[in-house]
Amino acid sequence: MDNKIKQLKHKREQALAGGGEVRIESQHKKGKLTARERLHFLMDEGSFQEIGMLVTHRSTDFGMEKEKYPGDGVVTGYGTVNGRLIYVFSQDFTVFGGSLSETHAEKICKIMELAIKNGAPVVGLNDSGGARIQEGVVSLGGYADIFYRNTMASGVVPQISAIMGPCAGGAVYSPAITDFILMVEHTSYMFVTGPNVVKTVTHEVVTSEELGGANTHASKSGVTHFACANEIEAIKNVKSLLSYMPQNCEDKAPALPYEPQNELRPELGTILPQATSQPYDVREVINHLIDTDSFLEVHKDFAENIVVGFARLAGRSIGIIANQPAFLAGVLDINSSTKGARFVRFCDSFNIPLLVLEDVPGFLPGTDQEWNAIITNGAKLLYAFCEATVPRITVITRKAYGGAYDVMNSKHIGADMNFAWPSAEIAVMGAKGAAEIIFKREIISAEDKEAKWKEKEQLYSDIFANPYRAAERGFIDEVIEPAETRLKLIHAFKMLENKVVNNPRKKHGNIPL
Ligand code: HXC
Repeated sequence: MDNKIKQLKHKREQALAGGGEVRIESQHKKGKLTARERLHFLMDEGSFQEIGMLVTHRSTDFGMEKEKYPGDGVVTGYGTVNGRLIYVFSQDFTVFGGSLSETHAEKICKIMELAIKNGAPVVGLNDSGGARIQEGVVSLGGYADIFYRNTMASGVVPQISAIMGPCAGGAVYSPAITDFILMVEHTSYMFVTGPNVVKTVTHEVVTSEELGGANTHASKSGVTHFACANEIEAIKNVKSLLSYMPQNCEDKAPALPYEPQNELRPELGTILPQATSQPYDVREVINHLIDTDSFLEVHKDFAENIVVGFARLAGRSIGIIANQPAFLAGVLDINSSTKGARFVRFCDSFNIPLLVLEDVPGFLPGTDQEWNAIITNGAKLLYAFCEATVPRITVITRKAYGGAYDVMNSKHIGADMNFAWPSAEIAVMGAKGAAEIIFKREIISAEDKEAKWKEKEQLYSDIFANPYRAAERGFIDEVIEPAETRLKLIHAFKMLENKVVNNPRKKHGNIPL
């Protein structure tokens, strides 16, 4: 028996050594941690249980049968993060560049299947040269096996992808199907085709970082939800994200203990500027409403005219979608609509109640928006809200104009509670534009056109630039003082805690993609 145990120990040591000292050193020199070091920082101490440590590839081409590493370039298993079960895979760049072989893929699929059956999140730490070139089509098949399981797991268990090295070619599509992507600045990149192919095909000269680095995808494409300064920050963000989520779609997000206190926030009454055309940062409103320091902003640098993220209210997880008057006046456009829609759908998939803070002048006009399908893309946000069955509350702080009023979680599309501050303006359009259209004849024939216009603008404003018409109709449930907003939200979310809504039975909806 002793010999047999010795043999086992030897095999384990081989697996723990990955691709060997030299390659580990080279990984460190690039500013990257190894697959196991990443797991060490991610998982609760001593909780990680490895699965498939001794798996090796089956390839025999190119002398590959002589080059085998137990584990085959990916460490897979399960364990806990802050005491809660997750399944995890961590690609080992020191073994064949973390490239994906048939068996490497099988290991990932195995833990994904366990995650689906047992209802716990999957976290992928990606660092891979892509398809194992020596294996050809079986590697491609392995990718497709993963994509399929990513799709089957979508909406069943949360899936998070941290990109900590290369992720190129078709390999990008696994993270793309998952719920959240995090990238590390300067050491990770994602692209379908790299700079060399780009140069050949389009004659553009671009670096990997410019083409598909963390900041590019955080701000230009929106592919990544977080650009992190280093791997440790990325891992911290993964842990933080997990803390707001339930384990699966049947579960509720964990609540932190919360002692009721004075919930009035007089500061909320001081944020809106005197002039309605002036900007303010909606994050100030958010931070006064929620539990201290509980906001985790998602997609921070992309489509900044809408702010989305997780927070806690009286200890409970909520998802916030807020127009941002400090950027493009908070207008809805293509990118903000898709950003908002994706976040709403995540929250709805995983039973996280929604809070909408509304201050929106409408949809962004222009040929660029129309030709790039603001109609289809704006409809995504509308659709996402319409189908969401989680508790949904809206607070209109200022503008709620036109179609954007309907889209931003209005009563008509299923919101449960709609509040408005006295500063709310709920109308088809701004008073100036409205006066110009409906009083055109009177203004044209007036002696003092400017004065007439002003008079009519005031008239329209008196009638509609307030929340009371909507409140009289019941479209607004209550007009509240800014200071009491937090208190009202705590009561309303508590009241909605056991909400049950069943949308009509269907195979699946057809969201306008
Ligand atoms: C097998 C690979 C590999 C791969 C890297 N390696 N990529 N082995 N298959 N795809 C090995 C290298 O041979 C090397 O082995 C080790 O990993 C480290 O690679 P280096 O090149 O030394 O590292 P670095 O300079 O950091 O460059 C990393 C890299 C580069 C940019 C990822 O290795 C590279 O361009 N690799 C090929 C990428 C690629 O074309 N992949 C296929 C894409 S197509 P040693 O023994 O020296 O340590 C694809 C399709 C997916 O993925 C389709 C899904 C549908």
